[in-house]
Amino acid sequence: MSYESAWLNADIPCSVAGLKGVESILLKVDHAAAGKEERIIETAVHETARAVKELFGTAAEEKRITATDEITSGRNASDGRIDILLELVGEPALDTDGAYRISYNSAASRAEVKAGTARGLLYGSFRLTFLFKMVSSLNELSEESVPASPLRMLNHWDNMDGSIERGYSGKSFFFRDDSIIIDDRTEAYVRMIASVGINSCVINNVNVRTAATRLITADYRSDLKKLAGIFEKYGVDLYLSLNFAAPIEIGGLNTCDPLDGQVRSWWKEVLDDLFSDVPQLKGFLIKADSEGRPGPFTYGRDHAQGANMLADIIAPYGGIIIWRCFVYNCKQDWRDTKTDRARAQYDNFKPLDGKFSDNVILQIKNGPMDFQPREPVSPLFGGLKDTHQMIEFQIAQEYTGQQKHVCFLIPEFKEILGFKTYIRDKEGRPIKDDTVCDIVTGRTFKNKNCGMAAVTNTGDDANWTGHDLAAANLYGFGRLCFNPALTAEDIEKEWITLTFGDDKEVFLTVSYILSTSWPTYEKYSSPLGVGWMVNPGNHYGPNVDGYEFSEWGTYHRSDSRGMGVERGKDGTGYIGQYNEPNSSLYEKLETCPDELLLFMHHVPYTYRLHSGKTVIQYIYDSHYEGAEEAHRMRDSWIGLKGRIKENVYERVLERLNIQADSADEWRDTICSYYREKSGIPDEKGRI
Ligand code: GCU
Repeated sequence: MSYESAWLNADIPCSVAGLKGVESILLKVDHAAAGKEERIIETAVHETARAVKELFGTAAEEKRITATDEITSGRNASDGRIDILLELVGEPALDTDGAYRISYNSAASRAEVKAGTARGLLYGSFRLTFLFKMVSSLNELSEESVPASPLRMLNHWDNMDGSIERGYSGKSFFFRDDSIIIDDRTEAYVRMIASVGINSCVINNVNVRTAATRLITADYRSDLKKLAGIFEKYGVDLYLSLNFAAPIEIGGLNTCDPLDGQVRSWWKEVLDDLFSDVPQLKGFLIKADSEGRPGPFTYGRDHAQGANMLADIIAPYGGIIIWRCFVYNCKQDWRDTKTDRARAQYDNFKPLDGKFSDNVILQIKNGPMDFQPREPVSPLFGGLKDTHQMIEFQIAQEYTGQQKHVCFLIPEFKEILGFKTYIRDKEGRPIKDDTVCDIVTGRTFKNKNCGMAAVTNTGDDANWTGHDLAAANLYGFGRLCFNPALTAEDIEKEWITLTFGDDKEVFLTVSYILSTSWPTYEKYSSPLGVGWMVNPGNHYGPNVDGYEFSEWGTYHRSDSRGMGVERGKDGTGYIGQYNEPNSSLYEKLETCPDELLLFMHHVPYTYRLHSGKTVIQYIYDSHYEGAEEAHRMRDSWIGLKGRIKENVYERVLERLNIQADSADEWRDTICSYYREKSGIPDEKGRI
């Protein structure tokens, strides 16, 4: 299927006043770059040349300058043309892999990109192109950026039959009929994600089944090598999801016990062979003992023993094991009010703190449950002091409207990253840099094996993300892990300009839709942090009791008097997993934030929120407001007819119509349910 260019849109013109073209692209590399580095540098030059051609219609001359050459003393800029210099330098400020500085040297009429590493040069070249489309004068070509998050990773839940678990934008562009697909789209994708600084990508689903288990065998070797080659050009490290039970499923053994000598030898042989054929491979992502996946628990081993066995084998290759903490009992009895799924990650992993090998990173979902529209931050951040950690977000909108609804998630991610964990050091002293962002970017514990991952929202739809506005989440995630200090508004503004150009009306409308979309979705879906009121299985659309009497540990505990899960001291004790003062803040009803109230506590419908409204009236009002806002979003989009490409306009309109109808359904389903359950009428008489 053909594809579009997303934010690398060739139709968006240069916005710099008076700039008419680029005379030369000068490359200055003082030391002899080789291998991988050289390939990335070539890509940086190639991308710059491509951008020049797209922006100005004419090509620039490409010159390589050696250390001893003088850079031409400058040009006469009266013709509106400049030079671009890409330079690899040895400056401490640019030492971090991926860091770059963009500036404009007016004396020489030269835009300059300087970086200490090949990746930095590539990111700087992409940013220079973006700045050409976003700023109005040459002097604004000024930006220095050091990537905050060492790992900036996307997780694909692509299956080898071509389907995508929780995929809402078509089929996989990596796999079809148990084979790896390599075509134009492969490079276009890697280019797109590299342009926003993504440096790592897991191509297959964590729920490794059937063919994907064999991805590590010789059968797929030559295709993996080709794929790794394409990834390498753009500085993206290739990762695979592994099946912990592979020794049984393809190795012919009768166990996958991580402490069994035969199991270890089997893995060693297979992985040694794999790394020697595909040296670009960086590591593996593993889901074990979770939702039916096999793992160390089966053999009475713990997760450190499981992870370390694999990590030790791949350590000589610089390999990394990313081990997911999404481990919980999914066969719960809903009548049991003490077992609490929200506690599971902490209960399972906190006791293992300090036991993982140095090349193991724990990947922790942002919340304790599963990507609900509103969840508290996982208390495991703030629990681990001696273990490498990554945060897992989900930009695939599984519980946030499945890319039929608009839900710009960057404001949510910003809130989560800014959460203060109040973690203390091993001696019990407070640590200044203690937010989730500090932990996963390595500031808290001064480490490099950490970062941010997102379950991605892409597929083979022409626009990559199904809903055109969902691309803002992909763009935004990349930008946010590179520079978490950016505001959601900064990111939104960049994406809109690069995607739609500088039409003010378009900007204001799209910005209004994006910035209100998460609060709107929250208002008409699950109120006050309760979550899970979705249809079982597909997780789309309202179903208040869909997960109430099931085994998944996902309850709202509504009865005739009240609702919410009691997770305080008198309940499951989950709140006690937070450090003080967070723990007291959530424990006390008076201080518990309204938006998380029903996640933390069971309260009567007549309980008054900080706003003074009762819980029940809040439920009614927020659903009415949310649905109205969904209609308003749709109506505002209609005002853009004729101002943006017709196909994009129609695609988005179709989805906004679906969203408006669905929001009405959410409103009516939830309000009727609670009107009946509580017996309390709506003060405004609407239900
Ligand atoms: C959710 C999701 C599953 C997925 C799982 C995971 O439960 O619904 O499809 O497999 O998360 O993160 O592994």
